[in-house]
Amino acid sequence: MASSYSASSSNAARNHNARPSNPAPPQQQPPLSALPPPAPPTSSRSLTIHPLSRRHNPTNKPYVLPLPFPAAATSVDAYEKLNRVGEGTYGIVYRARARASGQIVALKRIRMEEENEGMPLSSLREISLLRALRHENIVNVVDVVVGSGLDNIFMVMEYCDQDMGSLMDNVICKTPGYRTTEVKCLMRQLLQGLAYLHQRYIIHRDLKLTNLLLTSGGILKIADFGLARKFSLPPSPMTPKVVTLWYRAPELLLGERVYTTAIDMWSVGCIFGELLQCAPLLPGKTERHQLELICRLLGTPTPRIWPGMDALPLARAAKLPKVAYSDVAQRFRSRGDRACALLLSLLTYHPASRADVWKALDARYFDEEPRACAPVMLPVGPPDDRNQTQT
Ligand SMILES: Nc1ncnc2c1ncn2[C@@H]1O[C@H](COP(=O)(O)OP(=O)(O)OP(=O)(O)O)[C@@H](O)[C@H]1O
Ligand SMILES: [Mg+2]
Repeated sequence: MASSYSASSSNAARNHNARPSNPAPPQQQPPLSALPPPAPPTSSRSLTIHPLSRRHNPTNKPYVLPLPFPAAATSVDAYEKLNRVGEGTYGIVYRARARASGQIVALKRIRMEEENEGMPLSSLREISLLRALRHENIVNVVDVVVGSGLDNIFMVMEYCDQDMGSLMDNVICKTPGYRTTEVKCLMRQLLQGLAYLHQRYIIHRDLKLTNLLLTSGGILKIADFGLARKFSLPPSPMTPKVVTLWYRAPELLLGERVYTTAIDMWSVGCIFGELLQCAPLLPGKTERHQLELICRLLGTPTPRIWPGMDALPLARAAKLPKVAYSDVAQRFRSRGDRACALLLSLLTYHPASRADVWKALDARYFDEEPRACAPVMLPVGPPDDRNQTQT
């Protein structure tokens, strides 16, 4: 437990800084013209979607997209919606029961853009990526079903009882916080899921507590692939407007377009710090404030420790405060040297020197006593309202 822990102060900080959500409004997504040419409608795996976004498709002609699910998809009527469990930037999530098997699932309704403007590219990406992934620590998409119209599409996912953001806010921060054994268990599961993604050249681009789900058995699942991307080597330019502000790497804040999986590792560092201190590590209010908080925690970067930082698009405009030293060792002293070493390796300014997922999994922190607890031993708190059927 962090020596500085105080439930009331961390809760106050938390209320003051409501969890921000994902940064990319649909306008910032690449236009459909940036995609490969549409597939002809020959197989059951393509669908004509119209009317389409005028913004994305100025000609406003119907557009045929290869879809990651069969055209003859199951109807959503096969599921009985029980209650709403979440609503994010790109969709509403319901707890539901499969009428045939009785199985409880999560239904994520894909939000269509305003005024029938079509299916967001982020949702197509999310469905196609998630359908191809299978790992214990990645949320499993079991089906894609349609509602009354083709503009009414739902992803059917395995149901998880908690998201870690709500669990932290509603339960963990009202107790003395996570113990070292629990932090290790959660971090190992997060890193194992992420290793699976990074090995397949997938960057998640929105890792944060509310996108980590927890089953009743304590299995952590990485969710919300709305911003995830496959990348190739050498990496090509992508938008830097990704990752929720509190978890956004400094190279993105300085406008870097050619980035790597290292941006996810920075987010993992922010999550690790949050688990340790039971409060968001870097809760910035604006991009400038975010950079300021980073400098106050880690010291101001210099071209010596971060070669190439001067050449980043926003480096000149960013007026960084002058902070000589890192505060990490002091702030996390009670968690031990190895915890601080892992945190610093994840929160390394120079992306090429930042710990990758395999190095993080190998960290000596995980080898020292006390070791990670078993997932079933993780605290889950009292039954959550979201797991009760609304009447
Ligand atoms: N499989 C699931 N089981 C249980 N709850 C879920 C599941 N998937 C999502 N949720 C809940 O719904 C919330 C929103 O889901 P998700 O993050 O996938 O949507 P989003 O629209 O991309 O959100 P945001 O933009 O806020 O990150 C989650 O934080 C979680 O509380
Ligand atoms: Mg989310």
